[in-house]
Amino acid sequence: MYRAVRPFLFALDPERAHELAAALLSVWTRVPARPRSPDRSLSRSVFGLRFPSPIGLAAGMDKGKVLVPAWFRMGFGFVEVGTITPRPQPGNDRPRLFRLPAMDALINRMGFNNDGAEAVAARLAQLGPQPGPVGINLGRNKATPNERAADDYLSAFRTLAPRADYVAVNVSSPNTPHLRALQSAGDLGRLVETLVRERDALAAASGRRVPLLVKLSPDESDQALDAMADATVAAGADGFIATNTTLSRDGVEQDSRSGEAGGLSGAPLRTRAERTCARLHLRTGGRVPVVGVGGIATAEDAYRRIRAGASLIQIYTALVYQGPSLPRRLERGIAKLLERDGLTLAEAIGKDAERAAR
Ligand SMILES: Cc1cc2nc3c(=O)[nH]c(=O)nc-3n(C[C@H](O)[C@H](O)[C@H](O)COP(=O)(O)O)c2cc1C
Repeated sequence: MYRAVRPFLFALDPERAHELAAALLSVWTRVPARPRSPDRSLSRSVFGLRFPSPIGLAAGMDKGKVLVPAWFRMGFGFVEVGTITPRPQPGNDRPRLFRLPAMDALINRMGFNNDGAEAVAARLAQLGPQPGPVGINLGRNKATPNERAADDYLSAFRTLAPRADYVAVNVSSPNTPHLRALQSAGDLGRLVETLVRERDALAAASGRRVPLLVKLSPDESDQALDAMADATVAAGADGFIATNTTLSRDGVEQDSRSGEAGGLSGAPLRTRAERTCARLHLRTGGRVPVVGVGGIATAEDAYRRIRAGASLIQIYTALVYQGPSLPRRLERGIAKLLERDGLTLAEAIGKDAERAAR
């Protein structure tokens, strides 16, 4: 079905196509459907949350419209909404999203376009119980300097954490000037400590502890990545999301779009993201779960990422190229690959981390 629809969507400007797809999804959500049970062999608890499937929707696809029921209906096991900033902001000027179809890749410089924490919290408040975790990804406003970034994250956290199953701290988008500087070990440690304190206060008041994950970039040196991992864990975070988009253009230099500013995602990001995931798994001795994201397009990619150290995975770009049947296909494929190798999902995590980290 998607194969028939894709040429029409791809004839449109990428962001228009995205808006049209979102409008169709929100209609589709209102059509009643029989709930479907996911493959039970893939259901797991991570960070104290139950994930019916390890395949999640990565941040940026739902930047706060909260089409959560539609994503679950598509077969996702969890959904990350965001990035959300404390105050609404329009993002960068259009065009800001580009397809590189020959490479199965995208370049984006959206710049955290979103309706702000209050509006998104109100939409989340309308959601009933969902079949899997809903994470919220937080960022700072473009106008806020890094010296005051912690205030932005704290403010967004206070508004949104009561509505979130987990919170992701985004310090790795390449499209907000200087944001990645917050990944330096000292700054990152202080930021995470601030949020952990707030999280613990919320837990004491509400009895619900919201896991805190940190989303990192794939463009760091090994040494810098190790320092970030150490600082994040020491500050009390519960896990990592690895990775965001890359500023590298390795492998896409010949594409006419490769000169566009922004973060590159999809197939050309795969090896970098896998390596980062494996390094984080090894650095933390496998004790801190990593959500693997970047260039995952097939069940083999997803399984490799799990064997590299991912406890959960997320997809974005491959969904644009392959359409809504992808989450279910990945789920079936991972189950088959585990069966082939005689492993449970838990046993497969990190099995090839040494190789993948090289
Ligand atoms: C158009 C677009 C917008 C994105 N927006 C966000 C965002 O707001 N916050 C974030 O943490 N990641 C964002 N991402 C990054 C994705 O969540 C993901 O980390 C990255 O695309 C790599 O995964 P993929 O290769 O499966 O796309 C965005 C990616 C794309 C393509």
